[in-house]
Amino acid sequence: MNAISRLATVISVASLFPLAILPLSVSAAESKGSVEVVHWWTSGGEKAAVDVLKAQVEKDGFTWKDGAVAGGGGATAMTVLKSRAVAGNPPGVAQIKGPDIQEWASTGLLDTDVLKDVSKSEKWDSLLDKKVSDTVKYDGDYVAVPVNIHRVNWLWINPEVFKKAGIEKAPTTLEEFYAAGDKLKAAGFIPLAHGGQPWQDSTVFEAVVLSVMGVDGYKKALVDLDNAALTGPEMVKALTELKKVATYMDQDGKGQDWNLEAAKVINGKAGMQIMGDWAKSEWTAAKKVAGKDYECVAFPGTDKAFTYNIDSLAVFKQKDTGTAAGQQDIAKVVLGENFQKVFSINKGSIPVRNDMLADMGKYGFDSCAQTAAKDFLADAKTGGLQPSMAHNMATTLAVQGAFFDVVTNYINDPKADPADAAKKLGTAVKAAK
Ligand code: GAL
Repeated sequence: MNAISRLATVISVASLFPLAILPLSVSAAESKGSVEVVHWWTSGGEKAAVDVLKAQVEKDGFTWKDGAVAGGGGATAMTVLKSRAVAGNPPGVAQIKGPDIQEWASTGLLDTDVLKDVSKSEKWDSLLDKKVSDTVKYDGDYVAVPVNIHRVNWLWINPEVFKKAGIEKAPTTLEEFYAAGDKLKAAGFIPLAHGGQPWQDSTVFEAVVLSVMGVDGYKKALVDLDNAALTGPEMVKALTELKKVATYMDQDGKGQDWNLEAAKVINGKAGMQIMGDWAKSEWTAAKKVAGKDYECVAFPGTDKAFTYNIDSLAVFKQKDTGTAAGQQDIAKVVLGENFQKVFSINKGSIPVRNDMLADMGKYGFDSCAQTAAKDFLADAKTGGLQPSMAHNMATTLAVQGAFFDVVTNYINDPKADPADAAKKLGTAVKAAK
């Protein structure tokens, strides 16, 4: 059964529990309506970012019901969302990404009407890149509002730690990365802060695949899911390098949250972290300045590529008009110029609006964000702009889960063989498609 029909089957059970028999969200007397928003922005820096949205929505007269579900990468939030949908009680708004937006829309639970007027009056079609708007439209109708764009293939560096370890510059090749890792180890630092949760393992895996296999190889294997690319010699090489990268990972990082690992780089215990630019939200919350207190560089060998991750808020069908008005308010706020600026500065991302991406200096974005925007626009022209597998932009959750299992088992098995792991990838992905 493919991923779409799998979700549809689960959700069809929801028809046994029609919305009408469930208590509707009760708005406070003075509120224009109440909207629950399910998301997984729970680290210190991320919370600061989402609080910007909450404050504006409340200022506009709506009641914000916070549906935060802890767990980086969102796997737990997605499990909660599915069970809420099955119980016939989905929230008004939920953070859903990439192909899963289509999957959810095909169940009939997303609202294809509620964003019609706001998307027209706010001119979303001209504000957004087609790649972005296609992701959040179902059959031509907006069913989600894109919030921001994250770049995933970053390496975060504490330059003071590098200096203490005698490393002169940020690594630009895997060989330089290993050399830096050796020096950090010798000087008593954790070379690579890393939390061994499956989504974090796969964030590193996809960066290494991009570095070793290049943009075309990445696309064939992780986006097109081509069996020959998944199991071929280039993938075996990428998996071999991944095992080497793993030797520099934090020994205490098993099961650790990404933000706690980021903190180790921020407070000078570790030298580097491979993480998307939500990591910057933690540096910002710690009042650190890009280019001075920390460096952001593309993961070695991937500077001509940009693995993208678009956060989006999808709208679920609801019975009461107050919630619909709240959904529309959220949508309008989210794509507004001021919110796009303030949210992304807090979150570490870049705006989704084309006009802002082209003029980042004007909005006071730091050097990391300016590089990200420049690369996003340049890589869109060359094909270097690719959806992140680890962040659910390239595949459905089912296929992503197949990658996660094989990659995490491979990293953790001391006897694992790269050729064997590549074969397993091919088989697991085929079964999940
Ligand atoms: C990503 C998400 C980001 C950030 C990160 C860590 O998948 O797009 O916004 O929340 O997970 O949880």
